[in-house]
Amino acid sequence: MPSSRTRLIAGNWKMNNDVPAAKELAEALVEKVPAGNGVEVVICPPTIDLACTSHKIADSAIKLGAQNVYWEEKGAYTGETSCSMLKSVNAEYCIIGHSERRDYFKETDADENKKAKALIAAGITPIFCCGESLETREAGEHVAFVTAQIRAGLEGVAVESADQLVIAYEPIWAIGTGKTATAADAQEVCGAIRATLVEIFGEELASGIRVLYGGSAKPENIAGFLAEEDVDGALVGGASLKADDFAAMVEKAGE
Ligand code: 13P
Repeated sequence: MPSSRTRLIAGNWKMNNDVPAAKELAEALVEKVPAGNGVEVVICPPTIDLACTSHKIADSAIKLGAQNVYWEEKGAYTGETSCSMLKSVNAEYCIIGHSERRDYFKETDADENKKAKALIAAGITPIFCCGESLETREAGEHVAFVTAQIRAGLEGVAVESADQLVIAYEPIWAIGTGKTATAADAQEVCGAIRATLVEIFGEELASGIRVLYGGSAKPENIAGFLAEEDVDGALVGGASLKADDFAAMVEKAGE
């Protein structure tokens, strides 16, 4: 990884932790996650926990991200959360396009495209997820599939500086399964993602955009991924729920 890209470790809590549990985990993270080691750290709690987590991490270097957003500004959209609502709790990042949203909630590339545009316009950085199923990988179509997700999801998205966008490559077969991609698997796809970003945004911008790996990332395997040229950090699910594990990953990313 060239030194121009700051490593990013982001925790996706998914649908875990009620308000008391979120406060407890946020407090533990503030205490344990190393600060000042050159690694950017983001935690993405459920929507209900955003406000209390924001309060708990306010005096720390840990940044806040959301797990979802709706692209309309306001109105009759029961159950949804707008960009300005995320801004009001100081969320700086928002995960979009996660395979769980695509699979269980039938979100499409067109939905992710609208979310990306709304977030960037609001000054929130999308963590744009992509990744293939086991079937697609076994058919040898993973690179074509993921790069098509990137092209469709980012079509017409105006990115002016590299910190306005983060990509997370999460092979679906490695999420929550304990089965990780090898570092070489991650590099193959992350490299192809960067080449696609070069086509879309040009060399200079694309060389600064962070590309993360996600899928059963943990303290024991993170260093291997980060050693790859186009892997700039991790989007962490299960291990982000344990303060010691998440802190250990941030520490390893700073080495
Ligand atoms: P796990 O780290 O639990 O495999 O989850 C990865 C993920 O989906 C993060 O968004």
